[in-house]
Amino acid sequence: MGTLDGRRAIVTGGASGIGRATAAVLAGAGAAVCVVDLDLAGAEAVAAAIRERGGRAIAMRADVTRDADCRAAVERALDAFGGLDTLVNCAGVIRRANAVDLAEADWDRVMDVNAKSVYLMAHHAVPHLAAVGGGAIVNIGSGWGLKGGPDALAYCASKGAVVNMTRAMAIDHGPQGIRVTCVAPGDTDTPMLRAEARQLGVDEAAFLAESAERPLARLGTPDDIAQAVLYLVSDAAAWVTGTTLVVDGGGIA
Ligand SMILES: NC(=O)c1ccc[n+]([C@@H]2O[C@H](COP(=O)([O-])OP(=O)(O)OC[C@H]3O[C@@H](n4cnc5c(N)ncnc54)[C@H](O)[C@@H]3O)[C@@H](O)[C@H]2O)c1
Repeated sequence: MGTLDGRRAIVTGGASGIGRATAAVLAGAGAAVCVVDLDLAGAEAVAAAIRERGGRAIAMRADVTRDADCRAAVERALDAFGGLDTLVNCAGVIRRANAVDLAEADWDRVMDVNAKSVYLMAHHAVPHLAAVGGGAIVNIGSGWGLKGGPDALAYCASKGAVVNMTRAMAIDHGPQGIRVTCVAPGDTDTPMLRAEARQLGVDEAAFLAESAERPLARLGTPDDIAQAVLYLVSDAAAWVTGTTLVVDGGGIA
C-alpha cells in the first residue's frame, strides 16, 4: 500500500527536472499521474518510465500559459483517471536579467509561465477537486519568492506572486477541503540551473560550485524537492495549508 493509493494527480512541467522527479515520486507512492509539459516527447518518456515500474501515468502536451490547454489537461486527467484530487504546478522558466536589460516579452513569458499558469490550472482543476471532497495543490515557488536575487527581476516577481497566490488560494478553497501549499526550492541541479549559467555568460562548473555554497554544502537534487511535495500532498500534511516550505539546504537560513 502506498501513501497515495487511489489519488489522481497532474504534474505540470513534468518532463524535466523537479517535475519529472515529482511525477515519479507521486507515482511510486501509488498516485495515477498525468505528466503535463510543452515537451510531449519528454512527458511521454516520464510516463513510460513510471508505467515500466508498475505505476499509472499518462502524458499530455500543454502550454500552461494558455487557458484552453489548461482546460484540456484537466479534462485529459479526468477522462483517464475518473477524477482529480492533486495538482502540482511545477512548470517554470527563468530569464536572468535586471530591469534595464529585460525585454518586455521576457517579462511577460516569465510571469505567464510561472504565475499566470497557477491561476489557470487552478481555475480548471479546483471545481473537480471540490467535487471529490477536496484535495491538494502544491505550487513550486523559489527561495527568490521570499527574498530578492540579482539579475532575475521577472523571476523574483513571479515567484513572490506564487507564494502569495498560495496563501490566497488556501483561504478561498480551504472550506472546500482543498489544501494549497508551496515548496520553495533552493538551487537544484536541473536543466534550468545550467541554463542560468549560459544566460549569465559564466562558466557552468564555477556557477554550480558557487550555487552549492550553503550550510549543507551541496546543490539540491530533484528528488530532494519531490519528497517535500510528497509530504505536502499526503495525509501527513492534513492540517497544513497556505504555507511555503523552504527546501534549500539552508540557503536562505
Ligand atoms: N532548479 C532550481 O534551482 C530551482 C530553484 C527554485 C525553483 N525552481 C522551480 O522549480 C520548477 C521546475 O524547475 P526545474 O529546475 O525542474 O526546470 P526544468 O527546466 O528542468 O523543467 C521545467 C519544465 O517546465 C516545462 N515548461 C516550461 N514552460 C512551459 C509551459 N509554458 N507549459 C508547460 N510546460 C512548460 C519545460 O518544458 C520543462 O520540462 C520551476 O517552477 C522553477 O522555477 C527551480
